Amino acid sequence: MVTSTQDLLRAWRDAPSGAVVLAEAQLRGRGRLGRVWESPPGNLYFSVLLKNAGDPLLPFRAGLALAEAAQVGKLKWPNDLLAPDGRKLGGILVEVEKERVFLGVGLNVSVAPIPESAALQEFRRASRAQLLADFLWSLESWLEKENEAVLCAWLTKSMTIGQKVRVQTGKEAFVGVASALGPQGELLVRTKEGTRAVFAGDVRLLRVLEDIENPKISEGQA
Ligand code: BTN
Repeated sequence: MVTSTQDLLRAWRDAPSGAVVLAEAQLRGRGRLGRVWESPPGNLYFSVLLKNAGDPLLPFRAGLALAEAAQVGKLKWPNDLLAPDGRKLGGILVEVEKERVFLGVGLNVSVAPIPESAALQEFRRASRAQLLADFLWSLESWLEKENEAVLCAWLTKSMTIGQKVRVQTGKEAFVGVASALGPQGELLVRTKEGTRAVFAGDVRLLRVLEDIENPKISEGQA
C-alpha cells in the first residue's frame, strides 16, 4: 500500500505536467496544516502534478473543480468541501517543490472516516472513476480562467462568507465575521479591532461547530 500519493508523485522525478497518482487507500495520508488524512479503502485519493508554482489562486481553482465534480456541498476557505450540514466531504493539499506543484485531493466517496466527516454517497451515487474524470476536466478549465472569474465563482460556492469564524494562524487565534476575499484569495475577517486579512491558517465556522457538537439543540432551533 502507498504511504501518500503526494510522496509517490514527488518521487516520480520525470513525471510530466498533468501526471496523476491514484491510490485505493493510504497508510499515511496527510492533510493541510500537518493533519492526518484518514484514508481507508472506498474513497478517492489522488495527486496531480502541475508546473505553475506561484499561482495564489490555485487552491481556489482546485476547490471549484472539486465542488463541481462532487455536485454536492459548498466550500470553506480555502478549499474544504463541506456537506450541506457542514461535515467535511473532501479537501485539497497543495505542496510546492521548486516549480513543481503537488495537488493532492481527498474525497470521501463511500466512507466517512471520522465523526465530523461525511461521505458523498449519503447524497448521491457516483463512481470514483467518474468523479476523478470530472475533477480533471473541471480543473483544466478553471486553470485557464481569469483570477476575477475564479474569485467570483468561489464566492457563489462559499459556505464561509457572512459566517462567524474562528481563525487560527501560526501564532494566534481570533474570532470575527468572514466578510470577503482579497485579490490573492486572502480571507478578510471583520473583528472588533478592524478587518484582518488571513493568507494561511485554519478557519472554523462557529455555527457549524455548534450544530455538529449539539445536534439536538440545533435541530430544535431549526
Ligand atoms: C485537507 O483538507 O486537509 C487536505 C486533504 C488532502 C488529502 C489528499 S488524499 C490524496 C493526497 N495524498 C495525501 O496524503 N493527501 C492528499
